[in-house]
Amino acid sequence: MRTIAEAGLAFAVVLLLGLGFWLYTGEDLGGDGTTDTTTPVAVDPEAAARGMQLSNDTGCLACHSVDGTPSTGPTWKGVAGASRPLESGESVTADAAYLFNSIVDPGAQIVAGYSNVMPSDYVDQLTEAEINDLVAYIQSLAN
Ligand code: HEC
Repeated sequence: MRTIAEAGLAFAVVLLLGLGFWLYTGEDLGGDGTTDTTTPVAVDPEAAARGMQLSNDTGCLACHSVDGTPSTGPTWKGVAGASRPLESGESVTADAAYLFNSIVDPGAQIVAGYSNVMPSDYVDQLTEAEINDLVAYIQSLAN
């Protein structure tokens, strides 16, 4: 009897731990200890760190600031998730797809007030994973 009771108890403990872990991880996907749903995107900090290094190595920062300072291109600070006015008169939301496309095909959607001087050959120089890292870095500068 005693071993059956112990086995049952052990089983219940394992179940509870599993449930507790599931609830915990389910609630804290953002990793910041909150369940704040206003945070637009959860950015992988490692991808953002690689993107920061790449933006330096690839020369992006010659034309883009990360602190709001005006430059040849728009600052990256606060761009991700924002509404971007385009030369065409339209506006688009700077989601991951827009940011990705702005890097591989910069002439497709020109930001209002800027000229089409961004190099268009990054798509040949960088891998898709590297471009996604750059996007993650820009997204990490959303606020
Ligand atoms: C020679 C200057 C120059 C360089 C170098 C450059 N850019 Fe740009 N970039 C621009 C300009 C100018 C614009 C605005 C016109 C346009 O939309 O193409 C722009 C726009 C962008 C946008 C859209 C931003 C927005 O505000 O909506 C992104 C994203 C971007 N660049 C990323 C990059 C990345 C990543 C690199 C490096 C791999 C890079 N740029 C290198 C000049 C540059």
